[in-house]
Amino acid sequence: MSDQPQRFTVLVVDDTETNIDIMLDALNDEYDVSVALDGLTALENCAHSLPDIILLDIMMPDIDGYEVCRRLKSDANTRDVPIIFITAMSDPSNEVVGLTLGAVDYITKPISIPIVQARVKAHLALRQAQLALANQNAILEQKVRQRTAELRQSRLTTITCLGRAAEHRDPETGSHIQRMSNYSQALALACGLSEDEAELILTAAPMHDIGKVGVPDRILLKPGPLDYDEREIMKTHVLIGGEILGHEPSKLLQLACQIALTHHEKWDGSGYPLGLHREAIPLHGRIVAIADVFDALTSERPYKPAWGITRAIEHIKAVSGVHFDPALVEHFLRIMPDILAIRDRYWTPAASPMAEADKACHQVA
Ligand SMILES: [Fe+2]
Ligand SMILES: [Fe+2]
Repeated sequence: MSDQPQRFTVLVVDDTETNIDIMLDALNDEYDVSVALDGLTALENCAHSLPDIILLDIMMPDIDGYEVCRRLKSDANTRDVPIIFITAMSDPSNEVVGLTLGAVDYITKPISIPIVQARVKAHLALRQAQLALANQNAILEQKVRQRTAELRQSRLTTITCLGRAAEHRDPETGSHIQRMSNYSQALALACGLSEDEAELILTAAPMHDIGKVGVPDRILLKPGPLDYDEREIMKTHVLIGGEILGHEPSKLLQLACQIALTHHEKWDGSGYPLGLHREAIPLHGRIVAIADVFDALTSERPYKPAWGITRAIEHIKAVSGVHFDPALVEHFLRIMPDILAIRDRYWTPAASPMAEADKACHQVA
């Protein structure tokens, strides 16, 4: 970095050499001054190298100073360079025209050198302040973007940890969580939700069974079938999940809460915990229900082999309008190639050793 103070560049545009000499005398000590004897040359100079400020005569051959100003102000590359008209046209109406075209100042000839020096200095200082402010804004915007990304990442990390904590007791494997949340995202997009909404579902769906942390081990890990009372206790995982997730105002956790509460509701009203019917079940709960069951059916468990895709699809079709929203089933079947691609991407054949309890969850489903 140089310790030299920055030398600004000034472009003087005037067709009279005497005037140019006066300007050079006035400005050369403090600035790097370049000159143009006509408007077209001035425009060429600006296209080649942008000055920090332009002192512009009005009456010139070919194009006049007004036209030069008009062209500079209509070009995004040059519009911010301050222009001071310096002219013998002293009628106030000329001044108005010049300022209306976007000039920052208007000095009439004969010029006073100290006034020109003072005005140039003032407008350069103003321009520098504007640039510094714009730069500051760009830095702030960059910082906001960076902080937002960090917050997003830390939110995801927190959710992942929360999910992992639940997984510790939950028999459903991590890859099940990944597949069903990605199926949910794909189905959300297929039924017309926005990219943002679909991403929110992708992030919220892994918490659908988080309430299992509140189900006693003797039930969650019971190797055999559950009796009636045990099934009723197992069903409480949706309410426990709602209780865990439902106290925060964040949109993500509100959605996760809604999914936790409603992913076992059924289209015909025979689900739990509320026995909601049809559209009374929130859309996100209906989406996750299909994604969750499809993955449970097509995954291998110690108590059952993985169903083939055809058999799972036949089952989904058979319970469309009973268990699942029929319109969503149609979308799900339509995007089956995408669903199978997700399945391949996140497929890990190993089943959880605790999968008996998974059976228990889906026994009551
Ligand atoms: Fe569940
Ligand atoms: Fe699940």
